[in-house]
Amino acid sequence: MDKYIIRGNNKLYGDVVVSGAKNSAVAIIPAALLVEGKCVIENVPDINDTKLLLGILKNLGAEILFLDTTTVSVDCTHVNVFCVSDYESVRKMRASYYLVGALLGRFGKAKVGMPGGCDFGVRPIDQHIKGFERLGAKVDIEHGIINAAAEDHLVGSNVYFDGISVGATINVMLAAVRAEGQTIIENPAKEPHVVDVANFLNAMGADIRGAGTDIIKIRGVKTLYGGNYAIIPDQIEAGTYMVAAAATGGKVTVKNVIPKHMDCISVKLREAGITVDEHDDCLTVYRDCCISRLNLKTLPYPGFPTDMQPQFTTMLCLAQGTSVVTEGVFDHRFKYVDELRRMGALADVDGRICVVNGIKKFTGAAVKACDLRAGVALMIAGLCADGVTEITDVEFIERGYENIVYKFKGLGANITKISEEPDKQISEIKAV
Ligand code: EPZ
Repeated sequence: MDKYIIRGNNKLYGDVVVSGAKNSAVAIIPAALLVEGKCVIENVPDINDTKLLLGILKNLGAEILFLDTTTVSVDCTHVNVFCVSDYESVRKMRASYYLVGALLGRFGKAKVGMPGGCDFGVRPIDQHIKGFERLGAKVDIEHGIINAAAEDHLVGSNVYFDGISVGATINVMLAAVRAEGQTIIENPAKEPHVVDVANFLNAMGADIRGAGTDIIKIRGVKTLYGGNYAIIPDQIEAGTYMVAAAATGGKVTVKNVIPKHMDCISVKLREAGITVDEHDDCLTVYRDCCISRLNLKTLPYPGFPTDMQPQFTTMLCLAQGTSVVTEGVFDHRFKYVDELRRMGALADVDGRICVVNGIKKFTGAAVKACDLRAGVALMIAGLCADGVTEITDVEFIERGYENIVYKFKGLGANITKISEEPDKQISEIKAV
């Protein structure tokens, strides 16, 4: 397993450029299965999850061509199989469930292994299945495989989600875009990446209106043609570097952002006494004094994002006073607090609530990344800590953050990546 060695007490300074949104890319790549033509997708983040999905599409017969490191041409015209046999790749990530909606939307049937993904407790897919069934598909799960099939073809219908779900919202959009008639989705998720996927599909010839609002209307079309599309900047990657700047006490300009998408994060940073200067497509973050305590609850967009909760909670460990963080989306998303305690954090977790008592400093320790956002939170703690922090299982982090070691080094961090095989060891590179 690879690991990061971080020498702390480094304030971050400089500029960092945000990559394309992971949670858009992991839906847009499977969505290309719906298109009988060439999709040129720009701003694709170079991360493990996108590589996995492109590999799965290639195995299904798609023509994949990288035009540059972040622009890929995907042509699924000649894909004619609805069964994804690569069970191991599928179970490595949550987003593989989008293969079901896309194959069902293209062929009227799909056979895909159950998804994997970060462990925040039970992560059912009942709302996905409910949506597919409303469109006329029969869905069952046997031997870890999701089997979905329409009797003849999918027919548009009304879908009301019992709870807000990003994945289910996108998956039903994928299944509905080529169904017969109109589909109305009520109580959908409104995250920026949900809107991004709808915009991609419309760029390929779909007819989706209302993404990002309380009602999404989809008029089924016969087929989708090729086209060009650029993925939006990653709201969570941007927020991560903003919080890292605030926690370390430096001054960082985060470039290539859509400020509107960052409002939910900027508001809470300002409440914590952090300055966030907003410009057209970048934000500058710094603080002139200590971090103020606050209460935080994660909610579906436009609420504070759950994917920013570990990073923000880590920053609150260094605030003056006691903060209360409530996880409003997942059942168990505080596992990483055990690791922060190894670094001196004074935080107590009770189910979905974490009470954080501010400390002066983290101390470096050997810790483990247990998922993507928890792993990057430990990096932030390591950057602030006295001494050296070793983070193992960094594959979790590299699933979703493009060039994270390089980007942090560019801001003055002292990070070394150590690989298991001695010959792959990368010599320590002091921050530039
Ligand atoms: C997506 O996961 C993201 N993953 C997650 O990001 C993100 O945390 C989450 O949305 C919330 O924003 C991808 O986009 C690949 P949900 P998803 O369906 O779709 C419950 C990251 O770090 N639920 O919105 O799985 C569910 O258990 C990752 O980038 C059902 O009960 O999240 C949860 O409590 C981590 N039944 C809540 O809804 C369902 O059928 C929200 O889940 C579906 C979900």
